[in-house]
Formats: sequence, C-alpha cells, structure tokens
Amino acid sequence: MPFLKCNNCQAEFSIPYTSDSCSKCGKPVYWLHVRYEAGKIEASRLPDSNARSLWRYASRLPLSKEENVVSLGEGWTPLIKCRGLASTLGLNDLYVKNEGVNPTFSFKDREVSVSISMAKELGLVPVAMASSGNAGSALSAYSARGGVKSVILTPEYTPDEKTVQMTIYGSTVLKIKGTIEHCRRLVGEGSRRFHWTPFNTSILRSFAIEGTKTIAFEIFEQLDQIVPDTIVVPTGSGRGCMSIWKGFAELQAFGLISRVPKFVSVQPSSLHPIADAINGKVGAATGARSIATALLVQNPPDLDLVVNAVKSTGGHALTVSDNEILGAEMLLAQEEGIFAEPSAASSIAALVKLKESGELRQDERIVCVVTGCGLKDTASARKATKQAPVLEPNLDSIAPYIGH
Ligand SMILES: Cc1ncc(COP(=O)(O)O)c(C=O)c1O
Ligand SMILES: [Zn+2]
Repeated sequence: MPFLKCNNCQAEFSIPYTSDSCSKCGKPVYWLHVRYEAGKIEASRLPDSNARSLWRYASRLPLSKEENVVSLGEGWTPLIKCRGLASTLGLNDLYVKNEGVNPTFSFKDREVSVSISMAKELGLVPVAMASSGNAGSALSAYSARGGVKSVILTPEYTPDEKTVQMTIYGSTVLKIKGTIEHCRRLVGEGSRRFHWTPFNTSILRSFAIEGTKTIAFEIFEQLDQIVPDTIVVPTGSGRGCMSIWKGFAELQAFGLISRVPKFVSVQPSSLHPIADAINGKVGAATGARSIATALLVQNPPDLDLVVNAVKSTGGHALTVSDNEILGAEMLLAQEEGIFAEPSAASSIAALVKLKESGELRQDERIVCVVTGCGLKDTASARKATKQAPVLEPNLDSIAPYIGH
C-alpha cells in the first residue's frame, strides 16, 4: 500500500492523509512524498496493464478506488527518436518525449489527473490553483470531467490561448495584475477565507508528483529498459524535474535500473533561482519577463529538494535566452515536425547550447522533455516565423515563392 513519508523527519503516514503539513515535525507539505513498499519487481511487472495512459502504472499510484480515476487518456506519450536534429547537432542518440500530445496539450495533465482523482477520493474540493496556464488548463478540463468545482488565478501576461483553454472547460478563471507569486499568495489567503483546497500547497501536490513521475517509467519502457545518459527538463518551480527524478529513483529502488540519468535543469536567463542554487550562485533576477512564461517562478517552494535531486545525479543547470528558445522552437519544428511552446522548447535550446560548449558527448543517449504544445502560444511562434503572403489567385503570383 502506498503511504506518505516526511523527507525531513522520516515520519510515515497512511493515506488518506489530508493535512497540509507533517503532523510530526510541522514541515510544509512539500516535504511529504508518496512511498511504496520496498522490494524488487520484475521489469515485466512494471506496467500493471496495457492501458495506453499513465494508469498502466496503477499500483505505483496513490489511488485506492478505480471508480475515482478521472482520466482523459493522459500519459503514454511518444518518445520520438530525432535523427534529423541529432545529425544537425552532431549527436547519435537523441529523443524527444513529446508531452504536447497530452489531452490538454501539456505534461500537467499527468499531475492533475492523479491529484483530481485523489481530490475526489478524499473529498478535497473545491480546488484552487495559481497557474501560468498549463496546469490551469489541465485543472479546468479534469474538473469538468470529474464533476469537481475549481478556481484558477493566473497572471495578466498569460497567453490568450491558455486563458481561453482554461475558461472553455468551465472553471472560474481570474486574471491577476501581477506575477504567479501574487496568484499563489491569493490562493493561500483565499483557501482560508473561501475554503478552497489549494492545489499547490495541500496534500494534492504530493499526489501531483506521482502523476509526473510516470514520464520516467514510460521512458524506461519505451527505450526497452535502457536508462538514458542525460535527460533535459524545462524547469519553473522544479516540481516536474523532481517528479521525473523520483520516477527514476523508484525504478532504481525496484531493482530495475542501476543508475539514474544525469538531469539537466533548464531555466530562462531572465529568472533562474533553481539554476543558481544548483550552480552554487546567489541573487536571481526579480520580476523578469520571458517568452517562457511557464518557467517564471521566483520562489520555488521545493528549491532544496529539486537542487538535491539534480545534484544527486551528477547533473547541472543552465539558462537560455528568449532568442535561443525561439531558435530552438523553429529548429525542433523544422527538423522533426514537433511544435513546442517556448517553455517546452527550452530543453532543445539547452541541448544546442550544451553541444556547442562541448559538454555533451556525441554518443550520449539523451532525452529532451518537451513539456507543452506550440499552439498554446502562437504570438511567440509568430516572432520566429515569416507571415504567409496573401496572393492573387494565379500561378504567376505563386512562381517567385517556389523558385520559378
Ligand atoms: C510547458 C511547461 N514546461 C515546464 C513547466 C515548468 O514546470 P515546473 O513548474 O514543474 O518546473 C511548466 C509549468 O507550468 C509548463 O507549463
Ligand atoms: Zn516531518
């Protein structure tokens, strides 16, 4: 049976557990992680079923009753071998884990599917969330599907596509004049006043990690039980990065792999507290803007845990500029036919940078996690593309464009 364990005082709690802190040492909920009975398993027993969603790993997820599962077929996304991009960059073995094909077009579907299922199971409703757009879109969709009420606070600068998407599924969506930090504070205060369950600061966040960790399980299965050498992860709060790390750490605990891949965490060059902490620097920029809007997190609550996770793999962090991200967005689209939003394309921007600086070996097996779809932010993509010309309806006007 899954249970919760405090990373600080090692206290263990059985599920259901609904407090937002460790009842032994008082550390906030960030410290409580879901654990599973120790013991080795056979690789063939890793998926519990052939379900083409993350629920194929049901016995490694915290839910107890199948009837509470709120699913739209999230997870089991393609791991795409990128031969064109690899040869352009001088690499041999490169893959993209394309999370943009999830039901609401980002990797956030994984965490929200598991957490909303748990919110139903434990009666932790209505749910409120501060979101830069993707987690909010997922929350709104899964709330609709699960018959749960939800409220989403999002910064004013959130792209229109994400705002429309959050709204269409029926959640209450409110834009706040400020950053994601302002939204977070208001969700905290609102939870006390309006009796919401705050997604990111309640026990739901511990369950969210379980959803995203399945990216690691899938990569392991999709690579025929081989561990990649390096995995590159776009990083905002760092929860995604830490969750994928947890997935690999569990595979190691099950005896299925002997090492965890080296993690490379990527942040925007305008705001990068996690990269700074990993690289032993202080003094991140504040209030910065970037086209990677989903990565703009000033005070990541899990900072220490993320930093420890990345460092424990011998990994590191780097930052990428808006121009580098846009270039990578184009490169990925035109070499591989994968359209990523800027935050998601940051993993490709990092890859380009690492290769140029000689930090990657040609024969490394690398997985870049591409966390969301490019249609989430077309205004950014438009900056990198030419406008399609509008022509008279005859072949003479077309000829100059096709070299005739
Ligand atoms: C597309 C995309 N990539 C990466 C991230 C960063 O994830 P995390 O905050 O878990 O680090 C987000 C967060 O919203 C996102 O939407
Ligand atoms: Zn504790």
